[in-house]
Amino acid sequence: MGIFSKKSISSLISEANEQGEGTLKKTFGSWGLVALGVGAIIGAGLFSLTGIAAAENAGPAVALSFVIAALGCAFAGLCYAEFASMLPVAGSAYTYSYATMGEFIAWIIGWDLVLEYALASATVAVSWSQYFNELLKVFHLEIPVEFLKGPFEGGIINIPAIVIVCLLSLLLIRGTQESARVNNLLVILKVTVVVIFIALGWQFINPANHDPFIPANVGEEMVKSGELSFTAFLSSEYFGEYGWSGVLRAAGVVFFAFIGFDAVSTAAQEAKNPKKGMPFGIIGSLIICTVLYVLFAYVLTGLENYLVFKGDAKPVATAFAKTGYHFLNTALIVTIIAGYTSVILVMLLGQSRVFYSMSKDGLLPKMFSDLSKRQTPWKTNLVFMVFVSLFAGFVPVSDLGHMVSIGTLFAFTLVCIGILVLRKTQPDIERPFKTPFVPLVPVLGIVVCLIMMVSLPVESWERLAIWLALGLVIYFAYSKKHSKLNN
Ligand code: ALA
Repeated sequence: MGIFSKKSISSLISEANEQGEGTLKKTFGSWGLVALGVGAIIGAGLFSLTGIAAAENAGPAVALSFVIAALGCAFAGLCYAEFASMLPVAGSAYTYSYATMGEFIAWIIGWDLVLEYALASATVAVSWSQYFNELLKVFHLEIPVEFLKGPFEGGIINIPAIVIVCLLSLLLIRGTQESARVNNLLVILKVTVVVIFIALGWQFINPANHDPFIPANVGEEMVKSGELSFTAFLSSEYFGEYGWSGVLRAAGVVFFAFIGFDAVSTAAQEAKNPKKGMPFGIIGSLIICTVLYVLFAYVLTGLENYLVFKGDAKPVATAFAKTGYHFLNTALIVTIIAGYTSVILVMLLGQSRVFYSMSKDGLLPKMFSDLSKRQTPWKTNLVFMVFVSLFAGFVPVSDLGHMVSIGTLFAFTLVCIGILVLRKTQPDIERPFKTPFVPLVPVLGIVVCLIMMVSLPVESWERLAIWLALGLVIYFAYSKKHSKLNN
């Protein structure tokens, strides 16, 4: 036994089947899990980043970027589906790593998931506050900039972002059933608004805005004419500014819009029938969102010239002004706020479930797995209410967003590796859902995630390294000594 000791699959499965007091409640049916996935997925990525990625990188071809990002997520999603149906325990990638690569890697991934879930909720809370202010403006009210932005963006503190994080944490403490109900409602609202945007906007598409579909890249033209070598092009400022390289770079940007489908797997222990429900929830939510995203991007860039969206964090409102329905703008803002709210809610839920599992294993203090009478991990919810509020209140949104992407991609990579390992070490275990074309799918998943990680700014790598180093200190100072498996 040591830092590479693994949890046995059979103990994980019996843990998953425990029921009654002191365990999480079986709340989610198959469609509830799809709603959970869609709840976590559609948010700031779609409503804010689509326009920016079109303006700066891909032009109208941002619709293609969504297809590429979806493919990358699908490889990882298929691996998640196998794990989540086989090991239906809370904890997601953390637990899968514990069973396949041992305690140390599991700790790293559990610690890394804080970047995904906690920081994604902070990121979206920051965008939430901007839309909330837009809504107030309709009523001729406005929040002073000091209380709308953090100190790095010309303000003092982002109060609305803190308020929404606190309210949703309290909702989660109140009960998972109540939270699921609120989530379902928010999901219906936001899917409706996306569908309405597509249906109404479609008639107003100006074909001239889609021509050329992939704007020319100056560097790519120079490579064709021999003026620039291909390797010089890769490191030049031309790379990523339109053309095919721009389509790829935009895929890295809009990847953020897909983050969240894996949050479904954190609720595996609360699924009524995880063997069927987990693959259905993960793949189902991914497919629904991909179709909506591609159509949405096509309509958005058809309504307005892509260049207009430069630096525009509210491209939906800009594009919608081109339709005859701009009187629906306020309704649009309200539903976008609803959409963001469900992302924050599900991300906070996912975060508490990961810490719940880590605490159950002894790697974190017992308080993180204490359940209330309503069977919610309320102390974890409270701790993250404070932690996420601090980030949402004070840190700029772009820094947060990159941290979320790198943390998520790292987790996806390890889950894909985990499938390869477990197929070798435990080939005979019952797999209600099997990832197709192994090893091809997990290997492609790893390659795509690594490419997207490399395309992120150097600072996000540095911050990832600092965060993981802090995690190592805690592991050796506390977790290793208290691990139930090792003692
Ligand atoms: N996918 C989530 C969003 O776009 C994180 O808001």
